[in-house]
Amino acid sequence: MKIFVTGGAGYIGTHTCVELLNDGYEVVVYDNFSNSSIEALRRVEQITQKSLQMIEGDIRDEVLLTSSMQGCDGVIHFAGLKAVGESVEKPLEYYDNNVHGTLCLLRAMQKNSIKTIVFSSSATVYGDPEFLPLTEKHPLRTTNPYGYTKLVIEEILRDLFKSDPTWKIMILRYFNPVGAHQSGLIGEDPQGIPNNLMPFIAQVAVGRREFLNVFGDDYQTPDGTGVRDYIHVVDLAQGHLRALEALKTPQCTAINLGTGRGYSVLEVVKAFAEASKKPINYTISPRREGDIAACYADPKNAKELLNWQAKRTLKQMCEDAWNFQSKNPEGIK
Ligand code: NAD
Ligand code: UFG
Repeated sequence: MKIFVTGGAGYIGTHTCVELLNDGYEVVVYDNFSNSSIEALRRVEQITQKSLQMIEGDIRDEVLLTSSMQGCDGVIHFAGLKAVGESVEKPLEYYDNNVHGTLCLLRAMQKNSIKTIVFSSSATVYGDPEFLPLTEKHPLRTTNPYGYTKLVIEEILRDLFKSDPTWKIMILRYFNPVGAHQSGLIGEDPQGIPNNLMPFIAQVAVGRREFLNVFGDDYQTPDGTGVRDYIHVVDLAQGHLRALEALKTPQCTAINLGTGRGYSVLEVVKAFAEASKKPINYTISPRREGDIAACYADPKNAKELLNWQAKRTLKQMCEDAWNFQSKNPEGIK
């Protein structure tokens, strides 16, 4: 089977390409390298000792997209912009890249009669949780333009399936992906100051940043800091293969990919300090606007419908993130 992977040079994309190639899939990556580099794909080839096809292109270039995916059997759609704060400042860019880009992709798929797609959604579509753990039945709503793009794309996919029930659509709602491939060759490589917790901690450990700002210690959580469901990126990547296998039959299904267990900011700081054997200096700062107290998945549907379950522990997530960071102190160039 040949899979067309949009955004395949990015963080989750590269890890998924490794799993696809190791499992015998042929892979075509389509990426504009706006947040990644071709070097990351070379490293995927180095890890797997297999080659993949790389096409530099934007998902909004429908003509190039349509010709590039010829002969593919299915699509995994990672391409998009993902920074919540930036989406508030540049909403038009976010709607254009994510929503318009996805419309171009779906039209290109129609033209090629490819009707199998796995889409990267996010736990952000649940907004501030009414109950925990979050099941897929939790009401959907969100608070920022990035979240709206995910929600709108989910609705587009559900409408598409209603109009043509021969489509095979899997919407994966990721919780907090962290960690790296155990080789240390690929991992999370944010440009500029990291928005997310684990890459920020990793840069403190390696000496690129002085200290971590812990955003709030007065939440209704056991130690007052925010609680999230961190999931190892290799577990997440493997979830995509299970999703492709489940798409033997037409459907449009949304599934959480998380561990079901939440950890606080201070628990992650402690685990990372142990894994890296480096002190992680931190200071308590005011809450970050838009943050919620706690968020973790009910992973039951993933187990039942995809036969998938996250296996890797927080210790492993920190060790692998540290292995990548210490081998690539300035990221992947
Ligand atoms: P990433 O930025 O590392 O990867 C995205 C890739 O898409 C990059 O290689 C980028 O160059 C490419 N891209 C962006 N816009 C493009 C366009 N218009 N045309 C072609 N390529 C384009 O991000 P990631 O962490 O790997 O996330 C992948 C997907 O998962 C995204 O859709 C993101 O919204 C979603 N997601 C990520 C997280 C997370 O915390 N990392 C959580 C939930 C959902
Ligand atoms: N945090 C800090 N200091 C930092 C960064 C984060 O204390 O420098 C805290 C946050 O307040 C939060 C926790 O660490 O309590 C996790 O924050 P992240 O920014 O790593 O992750 P979020 O849960 O805020 O958001 C991430 C992605 C979103 C996605 C969401 C759910 O950035 O795009 O997970 O999947 F929608």
